[in-house]
Amino acid sequence: TWTTGSFIEEAVAHIKKTVGDKKVICALSGGVDSSVAAVLVHKAIGNQLTCIFVDHGLMRKDEGDQVESVFRKQFDMDLIRINAQDRFLDKLAGVTDPEKKRKIIGEEFIRVFEEEAKKLGKIDFLVQGTIYPDVIESGTKTAAVIKSHHNVGGLPEDMEFKLIEPLRQLFKDEVRLVGIGLGIPEDLVWRQPFPGPGLGIRVLGEITGEKLHIVRESDAILREEIKNANLHRSIWQYFTMLPNIRSVGVMGDERTYSHTVAIRAVTSNDAMTADWARIPYEVLEKISSRIVNEVEHVNRVVYDITSKPPATIEWE
Ligand code: XMP
Repeated sequence: TWTTGSFIEEAVAHIKKTVGDKKVICALSGGVDSSVAAVLVHKAIGNQLTCIFVDHGLMRKDEGDQVESVFRKQFDMDLIRINAQDRFLDKLAGVTDPEKKRKIIGEEFIRVFEEEAKKLGKIDFLVQGTIYPDVIESGTKTAAVIKSHHNVGGLPEDMEFKLIEPLRQLFKDEVRLVGIGLGIPEDLVWRQPFPGPGLGIRVLGEITGEKLHIVRESDAILREEIKNANLHRSIWQYFTMLPNIRSVGVMGDERTYSHTVAIRAVTSNDAMTADWARIPYEVLEKISSRIVNEVEHVNRVVYDITSKPPATIEWE
């Protein structure tokens, strides 16, 4: 029978044997799967593993620092953090089409990753957080950027890696159990699904530093209040997004012309279908008044009450 302990033991032994004295690399995003895979491999081979964390500036508030502190301080992993925010913003300037944004973010991610990987000399293996559902539906957009890219053979020829995919046979709930078993903090293990292109697709229209700031700050308020109301485990996904609409409002004696922030919160089992979450009015009221009071350039908050289908979970 399957137990977390025996899985970890067998996986560690297997990874040790496979890797020998070779070097391994991993792209960390802070997502559950890649985090658990990285910690497992680190447990097996220590600092023969180097993790590269490309901070594209499209993460949620404080997320980049959390990734860094968990993996570097708690697990003492060899982690390289690349602060590439400006590079991504430059590439995205003027781009409004969501598929183009995804493509640019994915390509730039690979480019930054490659540049760093090359500096490390000869690397034989690449760790990936592929899990069983990815194996079944490989090629869908839920596959991590690096994954789909690798699959189409986009890495340069002098960077041929063998893959290490220790979670290939696990379902998400098993991955979480393994994560807890490895000592990864609960809030990381229970992290909500988050798109690879991050906040880049939660800002409709052109992405700017100011718009990212609005989404990041309003999203942090939403998350804080959902947690205060103890709804964080029952709602599948909850976030704010920027529909790129500005409208007239009033503040004191002054007319404003500012952004609308939308709240999206859904219940779901598998993200294939979803229902809008019935967040109590009092909680919504608190979230709304905090957002308009605390986040500059916002004068309106709306709540998305559509299920999937016909809507999707993300707006992009
Ligand atoms: P939609 O918006 O299509 O999203 O209803 C379904 C689920 O997939 C997540 N999502 C992604 N996950 N990389 C991911 O790992 C991506 O590029 C991506 N895009 C959407 C979305 O958050 C939801 O949970």
